[in-house]
Amino acid sequence: MSSFKEKIDISRLPKHIAIIMDGNGRWAKERGYDRIFGHQNGVVSVREVTEAAAETGIGYLTLYAFSTENWGRPMEEVNALMELLIDTIEKETPTLNKNNVRLLAIGDLSRLPANAAKKLQSCIGQTSSNTGLSLVLALSYSSRWEIKDAICKIGFEMAKGNIKPEDVTDELVAANLTTRDIPDPDLLIRTSGETRISNFLLWQIAYTELYFTPSHWPDFRKENFFEAICDFQKRDRRFGKTN
Ligand code: IPE
Ligand code: IPE
Ligand code: MG
Repeated sequence: MSSFKEKIDISRLPKHIAIIMDGNGRWAKERGYDRIFGHQNGVVSVREVTEAAAETGIGYLTLYAFSTENWGRPMEEVNALMELLIDTIEKETPTLNKNNVRLLAIGDLSRLPANAAKKLQSCIGQTSSNTGLSLVLALSYSSRWEIKDAICKIGFEMAKGNIKPEDVTDELVAANLTTRDIPDPDLLIRTSGETRISNFLLWQIAYTELYFTPSHWPDFRKENFFEAICDFQKRDRRFGKTN
């Protein structure tokens, strides 16, 4: 059986892949379970895709795990997602270390419950010297929050006279985003058939290739990930220029 993995051109890998992991709730409902069951099964996909990215040699993998807007879901679902986050981080830290994966997080982390924030910071600390894949969790993240925050920081420095309006460049804006040390994504994947961005990395995806798949996140496996990379490698990225 020929696999998508064999078709990947290792010399032209995307440096950074971002994923909007969507469809957990529908996946569970279709099977007669409640939404939480979908989130629990989504963790298996997170594990698979992280492993796939690490073994392929992808530099950065960003996973949209919880949006600012997701705080508006019923309390039981929010609590279950936070519990799942704590549990997963706790269980997976040794595997991340074994696979040389460094954990990072972006988003308004001050809104996370204290025990989740603590576990997260502990895992970030324990994996900080790993030199393989950087796994970036977007938690309590939204792009408008991030851009607004960047404007505040720049405005503050301007009010103090440290920078002038003409000093505001693309680089300065990027340096004030939570993704400051992370290259822009080359490929953005969204599962579940929805073809929208839902407030994710709006600044950073200016020239990102978009890939939408009908698979719900709990069904998304290594081969689906490799298939997306193959699709990406067929594209001609012109960045507004001629080729
Ligand atoms: C994605 O699945 C996970 C999170 C947003 C936390 P959903 O929970 O959005 O599942 P659907 O889209 O309702 O099926
Ligand atoms: C986007 O999915 C957020 C995450 C995957 C964490 P949502 O399910 O929250 O987005 P909408 O409601 O379909 O736009
Ligand atoms: Mg959804």
